[in-house]
Amino acid sequence: MIADIVVDLQYGDCGKGKVTHHLCKNNDYTHVIRYNGGCNAGHTIYHNGRKIVTHHIPAGVFFGVKSIIGPGCVVEPNQFFKEIIELEEAGIETRNFVHIAENTHVITHDHLREDQADCAIGTTKRGNGPAYRDKYGRTGKKAIEVASLERYLIDIYKELYDNKREIKILFEGAQGFGLDIDWGDYPYVTSSHCTTASALLNGVPPQAVRNIWGVAKVYETYVGAKNFEPNDKIFSKIREVGQEYGATTGRPRQCNWMNWNLLEKAVKINGVTDLVFNKVDILEEVNEFKIIKNKEILTFDSMEHMKDFIITNLQTIKNFYFSSNKESI
Ligand code: IMP
Ligand code: MG
Repeated sequence: MIADIVVDLQYGDCGKGKVTHHLCKNNDYTHVIRYNGGCNAGHTIYHNGRKIVTHHIPAGVFFGVKSIIGPGCVVEPNQFFKEIIELEEAGIETRNFVHIAENTHVITHDHLREDQADCAIGTTKRGNGPAYRDKYGRTGKKAIEVASLERYLIDIYKELYDNKREIKILFEGAQGFGLDIDWGDYPYVTSSHCTTASALLNGVPPQAVRNIWGVAKVYETYVGAKNFEPNDKIFSKIREVGQEYGATTGRPRQCNWMNWNLLEKAVKINGVTDLVFNKVDILEEVNEFKIIKNKEILTFDSMEHMKDFIITNLQTIKNFYFSSNKESI
Protein backbone atom coordinates (compact mmCIF):
# COMPACT_ATOMS: atom_id res chain seq x y z
CA MET A 1 0.00 0.00 0.00
CA ILE A 2 1.18 3.49 -0.86
CA ALA A 3 -0.25 6.74 0.48
CA ASP A 4 0.51 10.32 -0.50
CA ILE A 5 -0.94 13.04 1.72
CA VAL A 6 -1.98 16.61 0.91
CA VAL A 7 -1.91 18.85 3.97
CA ASP A 8 -2.44 22.60 4.41
CA LEU A 9 0.26 24.43 6.39
CA GLN A 10 -1.62 27.65 7.21
CA TYR A 11 -5.32 28.43 7.81
CA GLY A 12 -6.98 26.54 4.95
CA ASP A 13 -7.65 28.03 1.53
CA CYS A 14 -4.07 27.52 0.36
CA GLY A 15 -5.05 25.63 -2.78
CA LYS A 16 -5.27 21.99 -1.67
CA GLY A 17 -8.02 21.40 -4.23
CA LYS A 18 -5.72 22.46 -7.04
CA VAL A 19 -2.83 20.29 -5.79
CA THR A 20 -5.07 17.26 -5.27
CA HIS A 21 -6.56 17.71 -8.74
CA HIS A 22 -3.07 17.94 -10.25
CA LEU A 23 -1.80 14.86 -8.39
CA CYS A 24 -4.86 12.79 -9.37
CA LYS A 25 -4.35 13.72 -12.98
CA ASN A 26 -0.70 12.70 -13.00
CA ASN A 27 -0.65 9.55 -10.86
CA ASP A 28 -2.38 6.19 -10.89
CA TYR A 29 -4.11 6.38 -7.53
CA THR A 30 -6.71 3.72 -6.80
CA HIS A 31 -8.39 5.83 -4.11
CA VAL A 32 -8.68 9.45 -3.03
CA ILE A 33 -9.75 9.78 0.60
CA ARG A 34 -10.85 12.91 2.47
CA TYR A 35 -9.49 12.45 5.97
CA ASN A 36 -10.89 15.23 8.17
CA GLY A 37 -13.51 17.94 8.43
CA GLY A 38 -16.94 18.25 6.87
CA CYS A 39 -18.68 20.66 4.52
CA ASN A 40 -16.96 23.56 6.30
CA ALA A 41 -14.31 22.95 3.63
CA GLY A 42 -14.52 24.46 0.17
CA HIS A 43 -12.10 23.16 -2.44
CA THR A 44 -12.09 25.25 -5.60
CA ILE A 45 -11.17 23.22 -8.64
CA TYR A 46 -10.88 24.19 -12.31
CA HIS A 47 -11.77 21.12 -14.31
CA ASN A 48 -11.84 21.31 -18.10
CA GLY A 49 -12.12 25.08 -17.85
CA ARG A 50 -15.08 24.97 -15.47
CA LYS A 51 -14.94 26.21 -11.85
CA ILE A 52 -16.36 23.69 -9.37
CA VAL A 53 -16.33 24.00 -5.57
CA THR A 54 -16.49 20.72 -3.66
CA HIS A 55 -17.18 20.59 0.07
CA HIS A 56 -17.34 16.89 0.89
CA ILE A 57 -16.41 14.88 -2.17
CA PRO A 58 -12.71 14.20 -2.85
CA ALA A 59 -11.16 15.33 -6.12
CA GLY A 60 -10.61 11.76 -7.40
CA VAL A 61 -14.15 11.92 -8.72
CA PHE A 62 -12.98 14.17 -11.58
CA PHE A 63 -10.80 11.36 -12.92
CA GLY A 64 -12.92 8.28 -12.28
CA VAL A 65 -10.94 7.32 -9.16
CA LYS A 66 -12.79 5.91 -6.14
CA SER A 67 -13.37 8.88 -3.88
CA ILE A 68 -14.10 8.13 -0.25
CA ILE A 69 -15.25 10.37 2.58
CA GLY A 70 -13.21 8.75 5.35
CA PRO A 71 -14.21 8.00 8.94
CA GLY A 72 -12.15 10.99 10.15
CA CYS A 73 -14.70 13.27 8.46
CA VAL A 74 -18.25 14.27 9.36
CA VAL A 75 -20.82 14.23 6.57
CA GLU A 76 -23.97 16.30 6.13
CA PRO A 77 -26.35 14.26 3.93
CA ASN A 78 -28.19 17.21 2.29
CA GLN A 79 -24.97 18.93 1.31
CA PHE A 80 -23.59 15.62 0.10
CA PHE A 81 -26.55 15.05 -2.24
CA LYS A 82 -26.42 18.66 -3.43
CA GLU A 83 -22.82 18.11 -4.42
CA ILE A 84 -23.59 14.83 -6.19
CA ILE A 85 -26.19 16.67 -8.29
CA GLU A 86 -23.81 19.56 -9.06
CA LEU A 87 -21.10 17.17 -10.21
CA GLU A 88 -23.51 15.13 -12.32
CA GLU A 89 -24.80 18.34 -13.91
CA ALA A 90 -21.22 19.23 -14.81
CA GLY A 91 -20.96 15.88 -16.59
CA ILE A 92 -18.86 14.15 -13.92
CA GLU A 93 -19.91 10.62 -13.21
CA THR A 94 -20.33 9.97 -9.50
CA ARG A 95 -22.29 6.74 -9.48
CA ASN A 96 -19.57 4.15 -9.04
CA PHE A 97 -16.91 6.44 -7.71
CA VAL A 98 -18.21 8.27 -4.64
CA HIS A 99 -18.34 6.49 -1.30
CA ILE A 100 -18.73 7.24 2.39
CA ALA A 101 -17.11 5.04 5.03
CA GLU A 102 -19.80 3.34 7.13
CA ASN A 103 -18.21 4.57 10.33
CA THR A 104 -18.12 8.24 9.29
CA HIS A 105 -20.19 10.39 11.63
CA VAL A 106 -23.10 12.49 10.44
CA ILE A 107 -23.91 16.20 10.85
CA THR A 108 -27.58 16.33 11.87
CA HIS A 109 -30.21 19.12 11.73
CA ASP A 110 -29.62 19.75 15.41
CA HIS A 111 -25.88 20.18 14.80
CA LEU A 112 -26.59 22.63 12.00
CA ARG A 113 -29.06 24.62 14.09
CA GLU A 114 -26.66 24.78 17.03
CA ASP A 115 -23.76 25.96 14.87
CA GLN A 116 -25.94 28.68 13.28
CA ALA A 117 -25.92 30.43 16.66
CA ASP A 118 -22.11 30.61 16.90
CA CYS A 119 -20.61 34.10 17.27
CA ALA A 120 -17.52 33.39 19.36
CA ILE A 121 -15.39 31.44 16.86
CA GLY A 122 -16.75 32.62 13.53
CA THR A 123 -17.42 29.08 12.30
CA THR A 124 -18.69 28.27 8.82
CA LYS A 125 -22.00 27.33 10.53
CA ARG A 126 -21.95 23.92 8.89
CA GLY A 127 -22.45 21.93 12.11
CA ASN A 128 -18.89 20.72 12.24
CA GLY A 129 -18.08 21.40 15.92
CA PRO A 130 -21.32 19.96 17.36
CA ALA A 131 -20.98 16.82 15.20
CA TYR A 132 -17.44 16.10 16.41
CA ARG A 133 -18.43 16.90 20.00
CA ASP A 134 -21.17 14.28 19.85
CA LYS A 135 -18.87 11.79 18.15
CA TYR A 136 -16.37 12.03 20.99
CA GLY A 137 -19.15 12.29 23.56
CA ARG A 138 -20.36 8.92 22.22
CA THR A 139 -23.83 10.18 21.37
CA GLY A 140 -23.19 10.72 17.65
CA LYS A 141 -24.82 9.10 14.66
CA LYS A 142 -22.91 7.17 12.01
CA ALA A 143 -23.52 7.16 8.26
CA ILE A 144 -24.54 3.50 8.47
CA GLU A 145 -27.62 4.61 10.43
CA VAL A 146 -28.81 6.95 7.66
CA ALA A 147 -31.01 5.12 5.13
CA SER A 148 -30.58 7.66 2.33
CA LEU A 149 -26.80 7.17 2.33
CA GLU A 150 -26.97 3.39 2.04
CA ARG A 151 -25.92 3.00 -1.57
CA TYR A 152 -22.80 5.11 -1.02
CA LEU A 153 -21.52 3.27 2.05
CA ILE A 154 -18.29 1.35 2.07
CA ASP A 155 -16.44 -0.77 4.63
CA ILE A 156 -13.07 0.95 4.37
CA TYR A 157 -11.20 -1.97 6.00
CA LYS A 158 -12.50 -4.42 3.39
CA GLU A 159 -11.95 -1.90 0.64
CA LEU A 160 -8.28 -1.38 1.48
CA TYR A 161 -7.24 -4.79 2.76
CA ASP A 162 -9.45 -7.33 0.86
CA ASN A 163 -8.28 -6.07 -2.46
CA LYS A 164 -6.06 -8.03 -4.84
CA ARG A 165 -4.49 -5.04 -6.61
CA GLU A 166 -1.99 -2.70 -5.01
CA ILE A 167 -3.70 0.18 -3.24
CA LYS A 168 -2.42 3.70 -3.97
CA ILE A 169 -4.14 6.36 -1.96
CA LEU A 170 -4.11 10.10 -2.16
CA PHE A 171 -5.29 11.62 1.10
CA GLU A 172 -6.98 14.99 0.66
CA GLY A 173 -6.90 17.17 3.79
CA ALA A 174 -9.24 19.96 4.80
CA GLN A 175 -8.65 23.23 6.73
CA GLY A 176 -5.05 23.70 7.86
CA PHE A 177 -2.37 23.61 10.54
CA GLY A 178 -3.33 26.99 12.04
CA LEU A 179 -6.91 25.70 12.48
CA ASP A 180 -5.91 22.31 13.91
CA ILE A 181 -7.66 21.44 17.16
CA ASP A 182 -4.34 20.69 18.91
CA TRP A 183 -1.79 22.89 17.12
CA GLY A 184 -3.92 25.85 16.06
CA ASP A 185 -4.70 29.02 17.98
CA TYR A 186 -7.33 27.49 20.32
CA PRO A 187 -10.25 28.24 20.57
CA TYR A 188 -10.05 29.81 17.08
CA VAL A 189 -9.73 26.40 15.51
CA THR A 190 -11.85 23.81 13.80
CA SER A 191 -12.92 20.60 15.57
CA SER A 192 -10.80 18.09 13.67
CA HIS A 193 -7.15 17.18 13.25
CA CYS A 194 -5.67 18.86 10.19
CA THR A 195 -2.21 17.23 10.21
CA THR A 196 -0.60 14.31 8.38
CA ALA A 197 -1.26 12.12 11.42
CA SER A 198 -4.98 12.64 10.85
CA ALA A 199 -4.83 10.83 7.50
CA LEU A 200 -3.54 7.70 9.21
CA LEU A 201 -6.58 7.64 11.49
CA ASN A 202 -8.56 6.60 8.42
CA GLY A 203 -7.19 3.07 8.45
CA VAL A 204 -3.73 3.19 6.90
CA PRO A 205 -0.42 2.15 8.52
CA PRO A 206 2.39 4.76 8.81
CA GLN A 207 4.69 2.58 6.65
CA ALA A 208 2.43 3.23 3.66
CA VAL A 209 3.18 6.96 3.58
CA ARG A 210 5.29 8.06 0.61
CA ASN A 211 5.10 11.78 -0.21
CA ILE A 212 3.67 14.49 2.00
CA TRP A 213 2.54 17.49 -0.01
CA GLY A 214 2.46 20.60 2.14
CA VAL A 215 0.43 23.46 0.65
CA ALA A 216 0.88 27.11 1.61
CA LYS A 217 0.41 30.57 0.15
CA VAL A 218 3.15 33.22 -0.10
CA TYR A 219 1.01 35.30 2.28
CA GLU A 220 -1.55 34.20 4.87
CA THR A 221 -5.31 34.43 5.09
CA TYR A 222 -7.68 33.51 7.90
CA VAL A 223 -11.46 33.52 8.18
CA GLY A 224 -13.10 33.66 11.59
CA ALA A 225 -13.79 35.77 14.66
CA LYS A 226 -10.30 36.64 15.88
CA ASN A 227 -8.42 39.76 14.85
CA PHE A 228 -5.83 38.67 12.35
CA GLU A 229 -5.24 41.39 9.77
CA PRO A 230 -2.87 44.26 10.70
CA ASN A 231 -4.10 47.77 10.09
CA ASP A 232 -2.48 48.45 6.71
CA LYS A 233 -4.14 49.11 3.35
CA ILE A 234 -1.82 46.69 1.60
CA PHE A 235 -3.89 43.82 2.96
CA SER A 236 -7.12 45.12 1.37
CA LYS A 237 -5.20 45.26 -1.85
CA ILE A 238 -3.98 41.68 -1.47
CA ARG A 239 -7.57 40.61 -0.67
CA GLU A 240 -8.90 42.21 -3.86
CA VAL A 241 -6.11 41.12 -6.18
CA GLY A 242 -6.04 37.63 -4.67
CA GLN A 243 -9.84 37.36 -4.56
CA GLU A 244 -9.64 36.28 -0.94
CA TYR A 245 -13.26 35.52 -0.19
CA GLY A 246 -14.46 32.24 1.40
CA ALA A 247 -15.35 29.42 -1.00
CA THR A 248 -17.96 28.12 1.46
CA THR A 249 -19.34 31.29 3.09
CA GLY A 250 -18.23 34.15 0.80
CA ARG A 251 -16.75 35.96 3.84
CA PRO A 252 -13.75 38.25 3.21
CA ARG A 253 -10.59 36.53 4.39
CA GLN A 254 -8.30 38.53 6.68
CA CYS A 255 -4.80 38.79 5.24
CA ASN A 256 -1.28 39.04 6.64
CA TRP A 257 2.29 38.31 5.58
CA MET A 258 3.52 34.75 5.82
CA ASN A 259 4.34 33.75 9.38
CA TRP A 260 7.64 31.92 9.08
CA ASN A 261 7.48 30.37 12.56
CA LEU A 262 4.07 28.82 11.85
CA LEU A 263 5.20 27.51 8.49
CA GLU A 264 8.36 25.96 9.90
CA LYS A 265 6.40 24.29 12.69
CA ALA A 266 3.81 22.93 10.23
CA VAL A 267 6.55 21.59 7.93
CA LYS A 268 8.21 19.76 10.82
CA ILE A 269 5.11 18.37 12.50
CA ASN A 270 3.59 17.22 9.21
CA GLY A 271 6.88 15.78 7.88
CA VAL A 272 6.43 17.63 4.58
CA THR A 273 8.52 16.28 1.68
CA ASP A 274 7.15 18.40 -1.19
CA LEU A 275 6.11 21.99 -0.69
CA VAL A 276 3.78 23.99 -2.92
CA PHE A 277 3.49 27.76 -2.53
CA ASN A 278 0.46 29.20 -4.27
CA LYS A 279 -0.50 32.70 -5.35
CA VAL A 280 3.01 33.91 -6.11
CA ASP A 281 1.53 36.21 -8.78
CA ILE A 282 -0.57 38.07 -6.22
CA LEU A 283 2.47 39.40 -4.31
CA GLU A 284 4.14 40.13 -7.64
CA GLU A 285 1.15 42.21 -8.64
CA VAL A 286 1.12 44.23 -5.40
CA ASN A 287 4.92 44.26 -5.58
CA GLU A 288 5.60 43.73 -1.87
CA PHE A 289 7.48 40.73 -0.55
CA LYS A 290 7.52 40.24 3.22
CA ILE A 291 7.74 37.47 5.78
CA ILE A 292 7.22 37.73 9.53
CA LYS A 293 9.87 35.86 11.51
CA ASN A 294 10.09 36.04 15.30
CA LYS A 295 7.59 38.95 15.16
CA GLU A 296 9.89 40.98 12.92
CA ILE A 297 9.09 41.83 9.32
CA LEU A 298 11.68 40.71 6.78
CA THR A 299 11.47 42.62 3.49
CA PHE A 300 12.67 41.26 0.13
CA ASP A 301 13.08 43.29 -3.02
CA SER A 302 11.72 40.62 -5.33
CA MET A 303 9.91 37.30 -5.36
CA GLU A 304 13.17 35.67 -6.41
CA HIS A 305 14.85 36.83 -3.18
CA MET A 306 11.88 35.73 -1.11
CA LYS A 307 12.03 32.32 -2.79
CA ASP A 308 15.78 32.09 -2.06
CA PHE A 309 15.11 32.76 1.61
CA ILE A 310 12.40 30.09 1.73
CA ILE A 311 14.45 27.44 -0.04
CA THR A 312 17.63 28.11 1.95
CA ASN A 313 15.80 27.95 5.26
CA LEU A 314 13.83 24.75 4.68
CA GLN A 315 16.57 22.22 4.09
CA THR A 316 14.43 19.13 4.67
CA ILE A 317 12.12 19.71 1.70
CA LYS A 318 12.86 17.56 -1.37
CA ASN A 319 10.95 19.60 -3.95
CA PHE A 320 9.61 23.14 -4.01
CA TYR A 321 6.90 24.42 -6.36
CA PHE A 322 5.97 28.07 -6.71
CA SER A 323 2.67 28.52 -8.47
CA SER A 324 0.47 31.32 -9.72
CA ASN A 325 -3.20 31.76 -9.02
CA LYS A 326 -4.76 29.90 -11.89
CA GLU A 327 -1.93 27.99 -13.49
CA SER A 328 -1.48 24.33 -12.69
CA ILE A 329 1.60 23.30 -10.74
P1 IMP B 1 -15.75 25.38 11.71
O1 IMP B 1 -14.77 24.42 11.17
O2 IMP B 1 -16.89 25.66 10.77
O3 IMP B 1 -16.22 25.00 13.09
O4 IMP B 1 -15.02 26.80 11.89
C1 IMP B 1 -13.93 26.98 12.79
C2 IMP B 1 -12.90 27.94 12.21
O5 IMP B 1 -12.28 27.32 11.09
C3 IMP B 1 -13.49 29.25 11.67
O6 IMP B 1 -12.52 30.25 11.87
C4 IMP B 1 -13.68 28.95 10.19
O7 IMP B 1 -13.70 30.12 9.40
C5 IMP B 1 -12.46 28.11 9.93
N1 IMP B 1 -12.62 27.19 8.77
C6 IMP B 1 -13.31 26.04 8.74
N2 IMP B 1 -13.22 25.46 7.55
C7 IMP B 1 -12.43 26.25 6.80
C8 IMP B 1 -11.93 26.17 5.46
O8 IMP B 1 -12.18 25.22 4.72
N3 IMP B 1 -11.14 27.20 5.05
C9 IMP B 1 -10.82 28.24 5.86
N4 IMP B 1 -11.25 28.37 7.13
C10 IMP B 1 -12.05 27.37 7.59
MG1 MG C 1 -11.15 26.44 1.21
